[in-house]
Amino acid sequence: MSLTRNLIAALALLTGVGTLSAAPNGDVEAGKTKSATCQACHGADGNTTIDGSYPKLAGQYATYLAKALHDYKSGERKNPIMAGFAATLSDQDIADLSAYFAAQAGDIKDISHLK
Ligand code: HEC
Repeated sequence: MSLTRNLIAALALLTGVGTLSAAPNGDVEAGKTKSATCQACHGADGNTTIDGSYPKLAGQYATYLAKALHDYKSGERKNPIMAGFAATLSDQDIADLSAYFAAQAGDIKDISHLK
């Protein structure tokens, strides 16, 4: 009997640990507030960038944006401008910013149907 209870407790603990280590959920509204510094280059909504060499973020997959930001932060993806901005972001900031830009209507197109 107590073995069963211990097993259940162990499973609950494992499940809890799994939840903690997962990426935080992004909050679109919080991301909007945090995006103030990003707007100078990527545009207010992630669409109107200052010129063609600055990527549009609007409508991009949140998972892609989050990976890019984590990669700039770790140095896996190298860019002197973005490394500086990403270095200041927490995991929660990255999740929120990615959720915000992904939620904006964008003209990034899904071309996966092209062979
Ligand atoms: C001073 C201008 C500038 C600012 C401010 C800026 N970025 Fe960038 N960002 C760039 C440039 C330039 C690139 C392209 C870098 C490269 O080629 O990897 C880029 C790339 C990115 C990418 C990768 C896009 C892709 O399609 O792969 C993401 C995501 C991103 N920025 C998010 C942000 C966020 C979030 C902020 C605010 C915290 C921010 N940027 C602030 C200039 C800027």
